[in-house]
Formats: sequence, structure tokens, C-alpha cells
Amino acid sequence: MAESIILPEGTKAERYQSLIQQIKSLCDGETDRIANMANTFSALHYSMNFFWTGIYEVKNEELVLGVFQGPIACTRIAYGRGVCGTSWKEQKSILVPDVEVFPGHIACSSASKSEVVVPIFKNEKVVAVIDVDSDKLNYFDETDQYYLEELAQWLSVFF
Ligand code: SME
Repeated sequence: MAESIILPEGTKAERYQSLIQQIKSLCDGETDRIANMANTFSALHYSMNFFWTGIYEVKNEELVLGVFQGPIACTRIAYGRGVCGTSWKEQKSILVPDVEVFPGHIACSSASKSEVVVPIFKNEKVVAVIDVDSDKLNYFDETDQYYLEELAQWLSVFF
């Protein structure tokens, strides 16, 4: 029986550190990607108060919606489209303080105001992107990017 996540406290960096440690313990001994990502994104979503938290996986030259927490979202995103497709194409994380000023942003929900997308690499190729949205403007910064990249690196072993 899995233990529940203890809500992390402190600075944002301290909260991420505590959360990532708890996520790793939660997934310890489990090799199934879906199971581990389901718990990872649930823990992340509820601990950090995000609006939408999930993953799009590269399948047949498209991004396809994977495990997530939050409102329903668009299922497929083309290479180079939206924030997710741009992150895939440019092979880098993208911080979007205000989604309305990101050219080509795909609005799955009008409530989403800011966003961060982080690629997951396997053998130097992007295999998926982590996408996190907030219903507040300017919610994410380099600290979010840093720890989401750490999480992306850890999740890559399941691909
Ligand atoms: N806003 C994303 C689409 C995915 S949803 O936010 C969940 C984009 O522009 O790629």
C-alpha cells in the first residue's frame, strides 16, 4: 500500500526537492511507466497547486496526450505547433509567462494563463514533453524549469 505524499513546505526549491524525493520513493520498485507517471503527475499537481499537469508523448511524428491531472485537453499536437510542439522541435524547455503572447499557443482551456514545457530525452531524442499550466499569469520561473528538468531526466528511464 502506497503512503500518501506529505505536502512539502519551505521555498519553492525546497518544496520541489522534498516532492521529488517522495515521488522517487513512491515509484521505487515499480517499473511500469504509466503507473509511475500517474502517481508522479498527481503528486506534482496537488502539491504544487498547478491547473494542469501532464505529458504528451511522441508517437508517429506527433505529440499524443498521455497521463495528466486537470481538465480535458487536446489529444494531438503537431511538430512545431503550440508550446509543446515548439519545445519538441527546439529540444529545449520553454517558460511562458503569458500564454496570450506566445505565438501559436494552443489553448486547451481559457483558464490557463501561464505555462512551462520541458522535454524528456531518450538517447538524445525527444520522446515526450512534460506540460504544466497555471491559471495565474507569470506563475513559473527558472526554479520550476530546473526541477521539472530533473524530473524529466528521471522519468526518461521509463521510456
Ligand atoms: N498549451 C499547450 C497545449 C497543451 S495544453 O496546455 C494542456 C501548447 O500550446 O502546446
